[in-house]
Amino acid sequence: MKTGKFITLEGMDGAGKSTHILTIVAMLKARGVEVVSTREPGGTQLGEKLRALLLHEPMHPETETLLMFAARREHIAIVIAPALARGAYVLSDRFTDATYAYQCGGRGVDMYKIELLEQWVQGSGVNALQPDVTLLFDVPVEVSVQRLSDARTPDKFERENAEFFHQLRSTYLTRAANDPARFRVVDANQSLERVKKLVEEIIATL
Ligand code: TMP
Repeated sequence: MKTGKFITLEGMDGAGKSTHILTIVAMLKARGVEVVSTREPGGTQLGEKLRALLLHEPMHPETETLLMFAARREHIAIVIAPALARGAYVLSDRFTDATYAYQCGGRGVDMYKIELLEQWVQGSGVNALQPDVTLLFDVPVEVSVQRLSDARTPDKFERENAEFFHQLRSTYLTRAANDPARFRVVDANQSLERVKKLVEEIIATL
């Protein structure tokens, strides 16, 4: 049975979410709880192998979706569910909202297929595994694209065009608007210090 807390971080590439993970881990650890910091796709040995394929190999959008959920199934079985069951805080850099944003919003995969896979992998009803809180790091598309163009060698997703990023952002924001109890939208188009402060305020309320 789940007793810990499941926190996910989401946002477009270049929104800066990864920068804040260490802050969140430190804040949670200061409470004396066990913190498991992980990521998707990845988080397990098999998941990291799938990540390398997903980020660099061209493939059909539905293959991509299936592999994301294959990696997620393993991640839940080996890392997330056991950690939550022993009362840990699990902090995942991306989870299923990213599949809705990237594969449905960005690539145009049918939403109902993603919903089916979500139910298969995470369960349904009151026992479904869902994040308790999702921090959505939001920046305008132009900012994300600019930050990515300054960055190291881009992966397959980071090389997508602005239209793809517009679809991502609008899917994320729609999901956040539809589930205000779970989502906290962080305006990440501000100084690093200001964003860090916002993140700290959110974590403090958990
Ligand atoms: P990262 O750069 O935040 O580590 O994420 C890896 C990439 O994988 C990122 O561009 C988003 C993408 N992704 C999807 O397309 N679908 C998913 O379900 C997940 C978890 C990530």
